[in-house]
Amino acid sequence: MHTVLHNTLRGEWLALLWQNDQKIARLDPLHADVPLQDLPAFNAAGNAASVLALLRQLLPSPAAARALSVEEACAAMRDLGILLGSLKRHGIEPEEAEPALRVVLPLLGTITNYPPRDTLLHYTIWNPEGERMRTYTGTEDEKNLIRSVQMSIPPLEAALHHLLLLLDPSQGKDFRTLTKLVADNLEGLIAGVVWARRNVSTEYFAREMRLYYDPIRLNGVTYLGPGAVEMPVFVFDHLLWSSDCTDEEYTAFKQGYVPYVRPVWRLAYEAYARQPSLFTQLQREMETGTCPQPVANLKEVVSIITRLKSFRMPHRRLADEAYAHGNGGERNQGSGGYAPDILMHILQLMTARTDAFVRALQQVEQPADGPVAR
Ligand code: HEM
Repeated sequence: MHTVLHNTLRGEWLALLWQNDQKIARLDPLHADVPLQDLPAFNAAGNAASVLALLRQLLPSPAAARALSVEEACAAMRDLGILLGSLKRHGIEPEEAEPALRVVLPLLGTITNYPPRDTLLHYTIWNPEGERMRTYTGTEDEKNLIRSVQMSIPPLEAALHHLLLLLDPSQGKDFRTLTKLVADNLEGLIAGVVWARRNVSTEYFAREMRLYYDPIRLNGVTYLGPGAVEMPVFVFDHLLWSSDCTDEEYTAFKQGYVPYVRPVWRLAYEAYARQPSLFTQLQREMETGTCPQPVANLKEVVSIITRLKSFRMPHRRLADEAYAHGNGGERNQGSGGYAPDILMHILQLMTARTDAFVRALQQVEQPADGPVAR
């Protein structure tokens, strides 16, 4: 494993990361708390001129942007980001309306080590609670969509942490305990989708909210909007079953989102690119009779994928239902530019990979020529 990643996984690093997230959410470096409360009314009225005036009011000078700490720059990008998405909703390309963005956004991106626009982290995890919550529409549907992601990301990150430990036997952790921790934490991801299903109108999402998550152009490059697709679920897939998957569409999908996740997950993605996934490693060991894990432990690995399916199946229904209300053109696609078909494609790839793993497991359980003592 990459040394930096290996060292990162020690101690209470995730708890410290989440503490820092809370710190960012508390910050208001552009003094945007009060002005941004007017944004939902401007958006509802289609008042693009007032959105642009607000952006100009909040936009720091390059010198002021350079003086921000990393956490302040994350909070500043969050507050500018909600205005970028609002301008796009009204058909305005932000850099064309305010060319100073071409300098300030890259500065903030460089300070924070993120793309030069807001990501899902800015919109959810770094978004304050209560009256200070930044929204495009001020509606309960939107707040509930933000909540669904806020409730999913920490358990997903905990699952990723334990999965990385599973992949690195030198960490000396118990395989069974780790697989159980990975599977249990994925329940948080399922809870997020269940929450969205119950509390977000798919029709409202397709007809209104989706319109705020479009890509922007900046200095000749396209940057994706802060959709839930930017969650590091694809990093989880990568480590568990897909780092060695050769499907071109899914590989391009994963690579497209790498810049938008936390630096630590980018590192994990790169460290395992083209390496055998956990599934492949275990399957090879099963097929060559060298697997040190008892069957009961390998079955726990299958239970991880069952949880992933329990996230993906209802999520796919949510997406299909939403886009059945779509209003045509590119807005019939997700914020990443993919039609909901990609979700079925991922499910099919995952199922095929799981079936191969389960077949190898069945061979270990009941070998053709009788049970083998392990
Ligand atoms: C009304 C609500 C939602 C709709 C209509 C929707 C739609 C979509 C669509 C169309 C995609 C394909 C990629 C793209 O965006 O271009 C996608 C991907 C994704 N979405 Fe959602 N989504 C919704 C809510 C959520 C929620 C609440 C979560 C998580 C808590 C979530 C997590 C994901 C993930 C992880 C992907 C990547 C594909 C995968 O790993 O299966 N989405 N979504």
